[in-house]
Amino acid sequence: MIPLAIPNLDGNEGLYLQACVEENFVSTVGRFVTELEDRLAKRTGSDHAVCVSQGTTGLHAALTSVGVNTGDLVIIPTLTFIASANAVSHCKAVPWLMDITENSWTLDPDLLENALNTQCHKDADGQCIHTESGRRVAAIMPVHTMGHPPDMDRITSVAKMWNLPVVADAAAALGTRYKNKEVGQMGATLNVMSFNGNKIITTGGGGVILGQDDALMKYVRHLTTTARVGSGYDHDIIGFNYRMTNVQAAIGVGQMEILEQFLTAKKRIADRYTQAWKKIDGAEGFRSESWGESNHWFSGIFLPAHSAETVSALREHLRESGVDARPFWKPMHWQTPYLDAPKTLTGIADQVWEQILPLPCSTQLTDHEQQTVIDATLSFFDEA
Ligand SMILES: Cc1ncc(COP(=O)(O)O)c(C=O)c1O
Repeated sequence: MIPLAIPNLDGNEGLYLQACVEENFVSTVGRFVTELEDRLAKRTGSDHAVCVSQGTTGLHAALTSVGVNTGDLVIIPTLTFIASANAVSHCKAVPWLMDITENSWTLDPDLLENALNTQCHKDADGQCIHTESGRRVAAIMPVHTMGHPPDMDRITSVAKMWNLPVVADAAAALGTRYKNKEVGQMGATLNVMSFNGNKIITTGGGGVILGQDDALMKYVRHLTTTARVGSGYDHDIIGFNYRMTNVQAAIGVGQMEILEQFLTAKKRIADRYTQAWKKIDGAEGFRSESWGESNHWFSGIFLPAHSAETVSALREHLRESGVDARPFWKPMHWQTPYLDAPKTLTGIADQVWEQILPLPCSTQLTDHEQQTVIDATLSFFDEA
């Protein structure tokens, strides 16, 4: 089976892991953690980076750090991986699910602005209150879907009007650009990335919180490392034990050394798919806005003129042809834990989620393997 997206460990990962063992530094401090943080901050245009155990724990800590608390609402796009919504729930807050735009496949800024203007008011302290429920809206969490950025200028300007922090779920956005800006420069209060096995770089499991604000990032570091004060066992708040280990970071440093090669490979794969689908009516590559430069974390085929049944049959056909193809994220408003979450929907997520089919796009995918994927897809439509 040609896999969908697997790690590429062709660099110095093994060498650095060996160094962790030889130097006897395998736990939560060590030179690789510091080096990975430095490299990530530099590459993303961020002043600070704090590495953590996962993207999900990073999102939880980031939301907590900007003050999300019990009973609050956090606005998220309904089309996302469930970790975005779960991180809100881990704060004992509630996700307010909003719809997406047709091309970015993430948070619709017009809908966001309109929902806040019509359904919220500011209280005497200037806090944003959802009028019907009385809940405080505590943050906005845009998501970089498939590595394509949200319209961050629009979202951050709406956030400013309502004094809301923006915690971007940039899980898969290492190398993504928006109006020529790197993730750290896009205006979010905090950005969170994931380095699980299928991301642009992996650390096995891991993540990073990125930010520009010195005091806030100092707090993030404190919160994610058990809020220890001094070198004894004194802790001043209820912290999290979310620190990345040196072993994870050793893999990450090896990966960062070859990140640019990964990005080049991802773009080449995405471009080739986009080109190939010109031969199929009602099919195209993954979409992009003029202001967005995806890192092409995932690429595949988008079938806006085809039914969910056709996409499902194509997926089966591909699997029978030895090609791994899987359904894309099911929107949060269809997920059992979030059926009752507040929602502001336009129908776009419902329309597109079953028409998006990610295809094999590991950075080591060979031309021959990609041709097999393309041929299998074309043969489905020839025979259909
Ligand atoms: C959009 C999104 N958010 C959050 C996560 C969670 O990251 P992790 O698996 O590292 O916890 C992922 C990846 O799995 C993701 O794709």
